[in-house]
Amino acid sequence: SDRKYDPYRPTSFDQITKDAKEFCQELMPKPEEETRKLALLQKLSDITVEVFGEAEVLPFGSSGNGLALANADMDVCVFLNPKNGSEEVSPVEFVERIGDRLEKDPDFENILQLKRARVPIVKLNHVNGIACDIGYQNDLAIWNTRLLRAYCRIDERVRDMVVIIKIWAKRRKINNPYTGSLSSYAYVLLVIHVLQRRGVLPNLQTIVAGNGKVPFWDCQGFNRYFFEDIANLSRYWQPTPESQRQSIGELLYEFFRYYASEFRYANHVEDTEQAQSAPAADSKPVVKNRYLFCIEDPFELNHNVGRPVDRYS
Ligand code: GTP
Ligand code: MG
Repeated sequence: SDRKYDPYRPTSFDQITKDAKEFCQELMPKPEEETRKLALLQKLSDITVEVFGEAEVLPFGSSGNGLALANADMDVCVFLNPKNGSEEVSPVEFVERIGDRLEKDPDFENILQLKRARVPIVKLNHVNGIACDIGYQNDLAIWNTRLLRAYCRIDERVRDMVVIIKIWAKRRKINNPYTGSLSSYAYVLLVIHVLQRRGVLPNLQTIVAGNGKVPFWDCQGFNRYFFEDIANLSRYWQPTPESQRQSIGELLYEFFRYYASEFRYANHVEDTEQAQSAPAADSKPVVKNRYLFCIEDPFELNHNVGRPVDRYS
């Protein structure tokens, strides 16, 4: 456990904390990059409306939760509104039609239609340098983006930790679910779990105003409830004094110590969540999952975010 004698533990975390903070500053996206992303978002929105009628195009992932590194991809999700005149189409048809329309525009390059992915998407590069993934009607992605943004608002160490771990994983080439390693989203969940264990973060999915029962707010069959009123969080939860003293250096050390020597990979479910809020309905294990590294999605409780991990990685 944490309290055992640890011969590797540095006597001071000052230098690594200082370096980490400088590094985070450097890796922040510049305002100019935000401007290019907004312009691309507007362009995609115009094209979607042209193809399908009324539509909403929302950013999610790191462009929506404040956890982007400089030069990060942009994830966007299209919502069609069949009641107000736009068509309702299947995810595969959506990918085909928007993909074919984008092919005709010289501003977009490397367009890929991933129709057979778990969540069908179009991948592309815009000539202004932004890489973009376009998904469809994915409400849960919007909600988990908001959940991560809420965690970031609780403590500024969340962003610093995420930025360092993301850049570490990218440089080690272990941040690509298509080649058998974890997605950025998975790394963010790993960071949140460690910060919850250290008392830096609460579990927002179990906090209820007035201390009542956790409500069930349905989203695609899952409970998307979490406590989002961060300005009033201190009425229901306080960080431990010890957790407030922990520097980025020490928390980074804890991250690596925990996943190197404490986490039991074969039978330990990484869980930023409470399983008891799972819908009571059919909860048979999903056999198609590999269980080398189990990371429970905060809302989609039967989705193992660690599933892309193969034995080698
Ligand atoms: P960067 O693109 O590296 O900046 O990270 P990111 O924070 O945008 O994460 P990523 O691109 O991995 O994921 C984008 C969003 O996809 C997440 O915030 C989630 O909303 C959604 N998502 C939900 N489930 C999954 C999953 O299993 N894998 C991935 N990759 N994304 C998921
Ligand atoms: Mg992303």
